[in-house]
Amino acid sequence: MLPLVCVLLLATSALGRFDESSLDAQWEEWKSTHRREYNGLGEEGIRRAIWEKNMRMIEAHNEEAALGIHSFEMGMNHLGDMTSEEVVEKMTGLQIPMNQERSFTLAMDDMPSKIPKSVDYRKKGMVTSVKNQGSCGSCWAFSSAGALEGQLAKQTGQLVDLSPQNLVDCVTENDGCGGGYMTNAFQYVNENGGIDSEAAYPYVGQDQSCRYNASGMAAQCKGYKEIPVGNERALAVALYKVGPVSVGIDAQQSSFQFYKHGVYYDPNCNKDDVNHAVLAVGYGVNTKGKKYWIVKNSWGEEWGNKGYILMARNRGNLCGITNLASYPIL
Ligand SMILES: *[C@@H]1O[C@H](CO)[C@@H](O)[C@H](O)[C@H]1NC(C)=O
Repeated sequence: MLPLVCVLLLATSALGRFDESSLDAQWEEWKSTHRREYNGLGEEGIRRAIWEKNMRMIEAHNEEAALGIHSFEMGMNHLGDMTSEEVVEKMTGLQIPMNQERSFTLAMDDMPSKIPKSVDYRKKGMVTSVKNQGSCGSCWAFSSAGALEGQLAKQTGQLVDLSPQNLVDCVTENDGCGGGYMTNAFQYVNENGGIDSEAAYPYVGQDQSCRYNASGMAAQCKGYKEIPVGNERALAVALYKVGPVSVGIDAQQSSFQFYKHGVYYDPNCNKDDVNHAVLAVGYGVNTKGKKYWIVKNSWGEEWGNKGYILMARNRGNLCGITNLASYPIL
């Protein structure tokens, strides 16, 4: 009988939470927190309906999570009035290169037999603050800049924000806010002779003409290496031996959009549809034995767990995290 009682109680409390006046109040609060203004009641009605659907989905997920059905919790955030399709359209931007030969240069004989249980480059001063790409498909530029920042810190001991805008404006192989790919960015930095610091070339979140100025140059790059597709152990080894690694993932699930904490796992996450670039900054295992990757996103600190997500590791290449993984050589 007990499980049934639990379900009934939960159902009642869920109803209570969603009575119309409390939803109205929560909507007003959400709008004011996230400074939303809409063009008339028509648009507001549409946005409110999407937000409400998201609210109910998040609550339903968290009730299941409380019963132990999921290893992670979700929470409302600044993306609450957008559908998952809109989030992918506005806030991703990973373009998969066509017919580009990939160089899988992390050889298997580079693989040590033992690696540490956990690695977290945030604790080693090799990861800069979480950024927000805004409505520009520049995830690839933030991912690339993050991997370069890690190697720069490793080499010089200094943590410097590098310029994603420099990459958005100047990597001609890529499409700026229209999307791009990380190894093209590493190649650009190599051929260009460097990348400017964020201070010298600040982020604006729009396509501009290239304004690279060598006097603001903060890092150089000699090339890059890629991780063999599907090889999660190789990704862990690269993280341990090298530093933060640029990775591509599927970010189109609502569960990803509203992730809050715990170890993310959604069987619907599609490893054959990698659409978003992020930065793997470590890996580990929680007290329940769940293994994860530590992943830095570029959707601001309001998203996820202060801008980060723990994604299930060694669970069938979840979300395709090894499919487009690379790191720069400084
Ligand atoms: C590059 O920056 C330096 C120092 O700020 C400045 O003097 C120079 O005019 C800049 N060059 C260009 C082409 O903007």
